[in-house]
Amino acid sequence: MQTELMREDQSRSPKERLRPERSRTDCPILLSQRLVMRAPHEDDIDALAHLANNANIANMVARMPHPYTVADAADFVRRTRAGAIGKCVYAITKADNGAFLGCCGIEPHEDGRTVELGYWLGEPYWNEGYATEAAQTLIDMVFRTRDIEQIDARCRVMNIPSRRVIQKCGFQFQATGMVASLSVGGMVPVEWYRLDRKTWVSLKSWGGMR
Ligand SMILES: CC(C)(COP(=O)(O)OP(=O)(O)OC[C@H]1O[C@@H](n2cnc3c(N)ncnc32)[C@H](O)[C@@H]1OP(=O)(O)O)[C@@H](O)C(=O)NCCC(=O)NCCS
Repeated sequence: MQTELMREDQSRSPKERLRPERSRTDCPILLSQRLVMRAPHEDDIDALAHLANNANIANMVARMPHPYTVADAADFVRRTRAGAIGKCVYAITKADNGAFLGCCGIEPHEDGRTVELGYWLGEPYWNEGYATEAAQTLIDMVFRTRDIEQIDARCRVMNIPSRRVIQKCGFQFQATGMVASLSVGGMVPVEWYRLDRKTWVSLKSWGGMR
């Protein structure tokens, strides 16, 4: 599968091969105390397929198929490289050994003032503060480098850990609503939260939020 992707990459024109790098120029590699966040690549495919093939994850995010196969993982990596899934998708990896933990990213809204935050982690890595660390690092980068006013986040009403991550990042509750879930196969109730630039500035340091 990985060879297949490499072959496909080499068969593209020099202009096309450059496009993914151009689309990520405003998505720099991010470092935090325990994490390195970078673009997903072919070496992640096996770990991605293994960790993402989990209904406990798929049922909590909007667009993850379940079951999740190696072909789905390869397709995900190929489309993120092409800028076809969001404009800023990160692999969350451990700084000390490079292990792939999960993914996070931001998706711009059409209004040009808002981006939407998303994340998931492989179940073996839950409850160690990694999602909060990744989200706060990504949020800092977004507010420092982009002319946006606010970041939105949504979680299913039953998703206690994600709500806690959202709260630890300083988001404020806005409303409840419904969104489509691919793996559930219908609409599910969600809570909508927002972190605006003024609130982020007032937090100054994440030290008190962790
Ligand atoms: C949501 C998710 C990313 C959280 O990742 P994580 O690395 O475990 O998150 P953190 O460790 O940073 O924080 C989790 C918090 O939830 C709390 N928590 C977890 N399960 C809980 C429970 N059943 N009841 C109460 N609190 C709970 C943890 O104690 C922690 O809070 P604390 O730091 O105040 O103790 C992870 O569970 C996941 O990938 N879930 C499936 C996909 C998903 O839900 N993605 C988000 C979609 S909106």
